[in-house]
Order: sequence, then structure tokens, then C-alpha cells
Amino acid sequence: MNILVTGGLGYIGSHTVVSLIETGHKVIIADNLSNSNKEVLDKLNSITNSNILFYQIDVTDSDKINILFEQHKLDGVIHFAGYKAVGESTLKPLKYYYNNLLSTITLAKACKKYNVKKFVFSSSATVYGDNNVPFKETMSLLPTTNPYGETKVMGERILQDLVKSDPEFEVTLLRYFNPIGAHPSGLLGEKPNGIPNNLMPYITQVAKGKLKELHVFGNDYPTIDGTGVRDYIHVMDLAEGHVAALENIKQGVHIYNLGTGNGTSVLQLITTFEKTNNIKVPYRIVERRQGDIASCYADVTKIETEIGWYAKRTLEDMCKDAWHFEKSTVTLV
Ligand code: WQD
Repeated sequence: MNILVTGGLGYIGSHTVVSLIETGHKVIIADNLSNSNKEVLDKLNSITNSNILFYQIDVTDSDKINILFEQHKLDGVIHFAGYKAVGESTLKPLKYYYNNLLSTITLAKACKKYNVKKFVFSSSATVYGDNNVPFKETMSLLPTTNPYGETKVMGERILQDLVKSDPEFEVTLLRYFNPIGAHPSGLLGEKPNGIPNNLMPYITQVAKGKLKELHVFGNDYPTIDGTGVRDYIHVMDLAEGHVAALENIKQGVHIYNLGTGNGTSVLQLITTFEKTNNIKVPYRIVERRQGDIASCYADVTKIETEIGWYAKRTLEDMCKDAWHFEKSTVTLV
């Protein structure tokens, strides 16, 4: 299939582009480079031995998006483009609502206009709010703690209403848990600008000596060792989950968790990282981070039963690949 991948130079988008091409699909990337860089395109071309069509476009720009749809016969879209920093979204809510909602609406309007009916949407486990674990797709959603999470809830609702109005649409909403790790080549990985918000890139930068020590945000949660529990999934598993979802897409709206079904605490991840890579990660317990929940992990039976997909890579694989990428990344001083 000929697939438009918005945000295709970003962390999850770029890994999904690799899986799509390796499975025989043609890919066109639209990315405004607001949270990614052009060098990722060269790495994608060398990993996949291809010359991927790239457009530096802001997905909220309907004129440019329509020209792209006019110039290319698309079979479907995978929509990653959006801001995703939870903390920043509480400081700049209008930026998040404008960008994340308008990009989804603009893309969906172009799909309707040009009769492109297959739409895979990048959603997040954040939409569950502080529900009881494991999170199931049939659960009613609780309020999220931040505007970023609300944009995902609203994005899902926009697409659900689109399908109600036009049942020919084939929409899949993928709710990611905590993607970590990197492509085994060490060429692609999570490279946040500035101080990392997320746990794994912070760990790898401490291991590399770029940052002094990891601050563990609280050890008084009602969990196995008091630290936050999350469902970490290898980004390559997440990418392959997108391809499986796309290849099995059908009319209506279908919601799937993309996780492993396993909960891992912060201290457990640190220990696994240290043992896998034979390196120490100095850390200090500090107070809880605003907006964090104690536990978040998936019930993954639905996607396995309906699509036959499940995550295959281990926590050790995630730690090994994340560290390999960090070591391969030149630190510009
Ligand atoms: C994981 C655990 C922290 C950093 C967020 C978004 C989610 C998705 C992934 C976009 C928690 C602890 C973290 C640190 C720490 N993003 N931690 N020290 O918050 O589960 O999910 O990122 O789609 O939508 O909500 O991920 O990696 O920030 O935190 O102790 O320096 O690690 O408290 O328990 P999170 P995270």
C-alpha cells in the first residue's frame, strides 16, 4: 500500500517507516521538523536502502496537505504528527490543542476529500486516566491529568464521529504504553531536545555521563517497590504493531492497546539496564512528579485475539538497544 506517514521523522514514526518499507509498502513522509531533524531521512534511506519521498509540511496547512493528496494516490495514512510533552502541555495548552486537533482534522478532511479511507491514529495510554490496571480498551476513560492527554481523547472522538458520519472509513486507534529502545542498527532512536522528560533517555544520558544522576520521582506509590510502574514496549515492536494494524484494518473504528501487558517499576528498569549493559546508573529518590499515576500497564488480549500481533522483544532487548543508540550518538559539545 501507498501510505502517508505524518511525523515520520520522529521517534516512533521513523521506526514505523522502517517496518512499513521492510514489509513491502511504499511510504511518503510529511514532517514539519518541529521535534525531529532531516538527518533521520538519510538514516531511513540507508537502513531501508530506498529513497523515501519527504515533504517538509505542517499537517495543519490544509493547502499543502491537499496538494500532497492530489499528487499522490494514497491508500492510507498513519498520523503521528503532534506535540507530546505532558509537562509542556500544561504550560502551553493552546499550542497543544491547536496543533494536535487541527492537524488531525486537516488530515481527516483531506482523506474524506480524496477518498482515502484507511486511517491509523497515534493515541496513548494517557487517555485511560488513573484507571485500575490493567487498562482494557472497553474501559470508560477517566479525565487525564494534562492537555496532551485531552488532545488524544478528543482526537479519538473526532475520528469516531467521522466514522459515524461515513461508515466507509476504516479507522484504528492505537493506544501506546511506554515505547523505549531503538533500532538495532543504532542509527535511529529517541533523541529528545534538551533535558529528557522520559525515563529511558534520562537513564542512557546518565550512563553516558552527560547527566549526573537520575532523579527517581517518588518511592511512596502503592506499587511493588514504591516507584512508578509502567508497560515498557520496544519501539520496534510498536512499529510492527502499526504495520499489523494497518494490514488488518477494516470498516468502522477499532481500538487497540500497544503494550506488552507487563508492568515494570522505575527501580526494576534501572536494575535491568545496569545488568544488561554492565554499567552503573547513579540515582536519587526525590519527590513525586506532578500528574504521574502509580501504575499503568496494558491488557493486550484484544490485539492478539483480533489481529494475532503481540510484542516479542524483552526488557533486556529494550535496554541493550537504547544503550547502543546512546553510545552511537555523537554528543555535540
Ligand atoms: C515513566 C516513569 C516517572 C523520568 C509519558 C506520557 C505518555 C507517553 C510516554 C507520549 C514514571 C518515572 C521519569 C525521570 C522518573 N508520551 N521517571 N525520573 O510519564 O509514564 O508517560 O511518556 O505519548 O503519554 O504520559 O513516561 O518516561 O516520563 O515516566 O522517575 O527522570 O518513570 O515518574 O513513573 P510516562 P516517563
